[in-house]
Amino acid sequence: MHYPISLYQPDDLEVLCGFLNRSWEYDAITPELLEEKLTGDPFWMPQAIFICRDQEQIIGFMQGVMRNIRGIRYGYIKLMAIDEGYRRQGIATALYQKLEAVFKQQKVEVIRIYDVPLNYWMPGIDPRYTPALCWAMRKGFKRFGDTANLHVDLSKNNWETKINEEKLIEEGIEVRRAYPEDKQAVLDFIQDEWALWRHEAEMAFQDSPPSIHIALMEGKVKAFSAHNANNKGTGWFGPMGTHPDLRGKGMGAILLKRCLKDMKAMGLSHSVIPWVGPIDFYAWHAGAVVDRVFWRFEKILDK
Ligand SMILES: CC(C)(COP(=O)(O)OP(=O)(O)OC[C@H]1O[C@@H](n2cnc3c(N)ncnc32)[C@H](O)[C@@H]1OP(=O)(O)O)[C@@H](O)C(=O)NCCC(=O)NCCS
Repeated sequence: MHYPISLYQPDDLEVLCGFLNRSWEYDAITPELLEEKLTGDPFWMPQAIFICRDQEQIIGFMQGVMRNIRGIRYGYIKLMAIDEGYRRQGIATALYQKLEAVFKQQKVEVIRIYDVPLNYWMPGIDPRYTPALCWAMRKGFKRFGDTANLHVDLSKNNWETKINEEKLIEEGIEVRRAYPEDKQAVLDFIQDEWALWRHEAEMAFQDSPPSIHIALMEGKVKAFSAHNANNKGTGWFGPMGTHPDLRGKGMGAILLKRCLKDMKAMGLSHSVIPWVGPIDFYAWHAGAVVDRVFWRFEKILDK
């Protein structure tokens, strides 16, 4: 492999976006979304984003990022692509070697592919990208799980929740959209149960009005649902959560539908319920169907 590799620079964005769209058969990304994956990552790592060029032309790209989750240091290949005309020449391998060296320096213990909590493009490798599966296996990654993105046709329902919300009021539970001033209460609630979702909740609070709905009991947040918190503008649903003590009261279904109603009002034709999870819940309440599936890979680094 004799093509030079350099670090990504912000003015590469537009050209890089065109390159990714040419190289990915099953994905289309906009400069805004790419920016969200790059500088929009809460732990953005400019020293781990590599571009390979033939003269001026981009022929390879690999972005790495890290997370510290429950005491384990994870490194991720967050995005990658090699120009179709330059494959099987070791370019992805050369980019990966650079990335792995950065990860080793940072004492990363486990490397995964694409499924980056907080800010991600897709939650694993879509197995239709068969060369990517072959590549991952050859590089020492092992498949450890699968996940799916569900598809909801927003036109099929009006997503009305009024009657069920009135029933909850009788039980002392109020469901409504979160106001900007609810932000701290929502973040505190998430902190106790699902600290990893904080960033996405913050992203949903960036919208005006916030793309987040909450259920309150005695004035305290007990459940929430968000959308437009990752891959903004694409109909991305989630995260959502109900306090364990209050599950089974139908709050989750109401909160889900409130988000779907918002997305329909935004003019979207469908919603993506990503990285699932309880398929039956979404199938039952929203007519969601399995759309894309993803295989998850990891490699444990030697200590
Ligand atoms: C996956 C991808 C990045 C691999 O890039 P690459 O530069 O061709 O990979 P390398 O040359 O480093 O391949 C190293 C090894 O991986 C394996 N491999 C790569 N592509 C393969 C293929 N099409 N079939 C079988 N094995 C393959 C081989 O063992 C290869 O070594 P070899 O050529 O000596 O046999 C590239 O195919 C690509 O960009 N695909 C489309 C985008 C994509 O899938 N992105 C990831 C989405 S999750």
